[in-house]
Amino acid sequence: MLRLVLGLLILIGAECHETVLSLQMAREIPEERLGLACPVELDYSPQCICDFWPYETYNVYCNASSAEELNVITQTFQRTPIVKHTEVKISLTESMSIPANFFSNKTAVSIIFECIGDSGKLGLIDPQAFILTAATTTAFGINFCDLTEFDFAFLAQLRVLASLRLYNTTMTTLAKMPFMPHMRTVELFGLTGLREWHDPAQTPFLDTITINAAIDTDQETMEKILETLLYYANSLRRLYLPNLGLIKVPPAVRNLTYLNTLDLSANLISSLPTGSLALSSTLDSLWLGNMLIQSVEPGAFQGNFRPTLVYMVFNRLISFPRETYEDILEEMIYSSGSFNIYGNPITCNDCHLDWLINEKRYLLARVTDGMCTNGTSFDQLDAQVYKARCAKDNHATSIQTPFLLLISMLTFHRLLL
Ligand SMILES: *[C@@H]1O[C@H](CO)[C@@H](O)[C@H](O)[C@H]1NC(C)=O
Ligand SMILES: *[C@@H]1O[C@H](CO)[C@@H](O)[C@H](O)[C@H]1NC(C)=O
Ligand SMILES: *[C@@H]1O[C@H](CO)[C@@H](O)[C@H](O)[C@H]1NC(C)=O
Ligand SMILES: *[C@@H]1O[C@H](CO)[C@@H](O)[C@H](O)[C@H]1NC(C)=O
Ligand SMILES: *[C@@H]1O[C@H](CO)[C@@H](O)[C@H](O)[C@H]1NC(C)=O
Repeated sequence: MLRLVLGLLILIGAECHETVLSLQMAREIPEERLGLACPVELDYSPQCICDFWPYETYNVYCNASSAEELNVITQTFQRTPIVKHTEVKISLTESMSIPANFFSNKTAVSIIFECIGDSGKLGLIDPQAFILTAATTTAFGINFCDLTEFDFAFLAQLRVLASLRLYNTTMTTLAKMPFMPHMRTVELFGLTGLREWHDPAQTPFLDTITINAAIDTDQETMEKILETLLYYANSLRRLYLPNLGLIKVPPAVRNLTYLNTLDLSANLISSLPTGSLALSSTLDSLWLGNMLIQSVEPGAFQGNFRPTLVYMVFNRLISFPRETYEDILEEMIYSSGSFNIYGNPITCNDCHLDWLINEKRYLLARVTDGMCTNGTSFDQLDAQVYKARCAKDNHATSIQTPFLLLISMLTFHRLLL
């Protein structure tokens, strides 16, 4: 029972934003056997085990280290009565080719291959290998394989394929992609050697792209890849780019007009200069958590952020300046937008928060988990204390000083001319 509940929780969890988590779950299920053992009459041995979940969900995990063992797997699918499987995962210890009609006439919603041997190469996959599951298979995945020179042409047989996932593969190119008009989601996790995208016209209707932890892809290469993704400006809804070592926001994301989710979390971005998030899309969520963000210049956020959850948790923000946030917070009042700034070392014993705590306290409703370094949350800060403390400061410091300085510099400049 506990396992069952746990399993359901994980299923639900996988729906959530936590991409990394769901990816790891997907990988770990076979080892952990989170489902229940299948009824005894469903014997998939010796090459496979069957894993049973509620709602007639059968997953099958197989091993093969030779062509003979692959053949045994095909015979196993032939003799077992279950026609519709949810996930079938084949772990290969040697590089070998996958023959036609590999699952006999049985089907799988999701097919995963992984290379667990030393060679790491995945051989040729027959263009008819999955032809009898072609109307059912919507997801295909490859884990831990060396895909250098790999030809994805076989995917053309999967005519309703909507999702392609590659985890911890080595590859330099995704170039050899067939035309796949049903494809919606491409998920790349822990890739080595990612240098370019495939011709986007081969998968013209992508709505979700994840590139998580591309181990040796630098900022410039990633920016080029994202420029290729501009092909999807009118279809791409969700773009997840965590753990890529990005040091600045790639410019192309600003031109993706149709996005509703942008995830840049866990990169190495330390500042958001003016215009860096001048987006042409109206996001529901913008993930900027777990980075080194210290400075957010005025005008860093431009565009429509009214409904946007801006998630800036666990950064290095020490202030929350009016010049950067006031206008956006005022806009957010019209919809559901907010900034979550949990886990930032914000100082509260000066006057920089006076505008928020004292003058425009109603905007606090749009600042989630704002907290001072001493542990006091923003909404516990006393407006009167700020009023008293900052009354005389207000005129002398903060907002006015730079402005006066600017005026005097301009005047000085004019005098020079
Ligand atoms: C596949 O091989 C691995 C490693 O040898 C082993 O741990 C696992 O139990 C095998 N799975 C099946 C279904 O035989
Ligand atoms: C699958 O093939 C077997 C023979 O190999 C046949 O008896 C069975 O009816 C077929 N099932 C379907 C769903 O086509
Ligand atoms: C897969 O890649 C991720 C990201 O680089 C890494 O943390 C993880 O250890 C890799 N897993 C395996 C089994 O290689
Ligand atoms: C984004 O759009 C702007 C304005 O339309 C254009 O100047 C810029 O070159 C575009 N950027 C990219 C990376 O295509
Ligand atoms: C934290 O600092 C704020 C601002 O100086 C102050 O109002 C509050 O009482 C402090 N909280 C604690 C627990 O010291």
